[in-house]
Amino acid sequence: MTPGAREAVAWNAGGWWMVSSHAEVLAVSRDPATFCSARGILTLEIGVEYPSPPTMLHTDPPEHTRYRKLVQPGFAPAVIRALEAPVRALAVERIERIEPGAVVDLVPALAEPFPVEVIADLLGVPAADRARFVAWSDASIPDASDLSLDERMALMGEMHVYLLNAARERRGGTGDDLVTVLANVDVDGEVLSDDELVMFLNQLLVAGNETSRNMISGGLWALAERPDQWARLHADRGLVRTAIEEILRWTTPVVAFMRTATRATELRGVAIAAGDPVLLLYEAANRDVEAFGPTAGELDVGRDPNPHVALGFGPHFCIGAALARLEARVVLEELLDRFTTIEPAGDIERTTSEIIAGVRRAPVRFAGSPAAAAPPRSAL
Ligand code: HEM
Repeated sequence: MTPGAREAVAWNAGGWWMVSSHAEVLAVSRDPATFCSARGILTLEIGVEYPSPPTMLHTDPPEHTRYRKLVQPGFAPAVIRALEAPVRALAVERIERIEPGAVVDLVPALAEPFPVEVIADLLGVPAADRARFVAWSDASIPDASDLSLDERMALMGEMHVYLLNAARERRGGTGDDLVTVLANVDVDGEVLSDDELVMFLNQLLVAGNETSRNMISGGLWALAERPDQWARLHADRGLVRTAIEEILRWTTPVVAFMRTATRATELRGVAIAAGDPVLLLYEAANRDVEAFGPTAGELDVGRDPNPHVALGFGPHFCIGAALARLEARVVLEELLDRFTTIEPAGDIERTTSEIIAGVRRAPVRFAGSPAAAAPPRSAL
């Protein structure tokens, strides 16, 4: 249904505006001067005062512009292209263990470990430290484990020291891993301080982990429920590119992020007062028929164009977008190479988080082995 003004911009009794239309999510996202990030990006941050921004997501131009310019080289197309082989190898390591015909829970088998392993690789963490890294990663994410707050804080402290040492060791180095690239970045004489570097590396763990995890589990589940869409992908590998965008739209792993109005303004004719928090409902915007037409509520792996906002929009557009797409692509390609079908083998269990569209359990069954040799793969 097309949201009218009342539905598109509605006051939530919790104390914030909810913006559910695609057009207004774009309008707010592209105007950080009117809708800032510095006063928090989650509703649980309303009223919280930070002595300094806890992440780059909490900054606005010009501070954000400087930060973004300094970390961008770590995500340059050449850097991401160089990651294809190691990322594919990590996916294959997991996918090879999937038995045809057996019930497999996608979460522990693939969706959960794979993105953490990719980030560990990206950061150049040696294999010997990987188990420790997984524990740190779980500790960084509230509710990801049964750890107490004290245990989580202790692990996060350890991670901070580890990343700080890794960053210091790699200053002056020449490697092509992300830590070395960022530790030595120099844009017009500007460099990242130790604190900025560690803050950013820390942020990658959270930003690039749970998001990709739920894109993979939620996306494969959606395909398992629609055998016709998996069959289309099998018949035409050229659709992998559009399928990735549709999976991002369909799963919208980040449900919503917030901005705060810096001045009185209006959205779709609704008055917004200075200081009002405004929650961008990416999930709703990604089902808006004004943007996606009458098939907005259907999964179509060939959807093109697909102007989804799963990766945000505007100056904070996801810096890891190319990496997320690479992860989705290698997973799809490696699974399509091995299996002709995927089907649900039980019920999906989702989390109740209002921030992340989390999947706790997704039992499926893969079967059939493609007779023909795998067709050529699409380009990045
Ligand atoms: C499916 C996977 C992913 C989804 C759905 C996703 C979603 C998003 C969204 C919605 C934003 C915008 C935030 C805002 O406007 O306030 C964002 C920003 C960001 N993402 Fe992602 N992300 C994904 C994967 C990744 C990966 C793999 C990384 C890095 C390894 C990453 C790192 C970041 C960072 C650092 C930002 C902040 C950019 C800035 O403030 O300029 N993300 N992401």
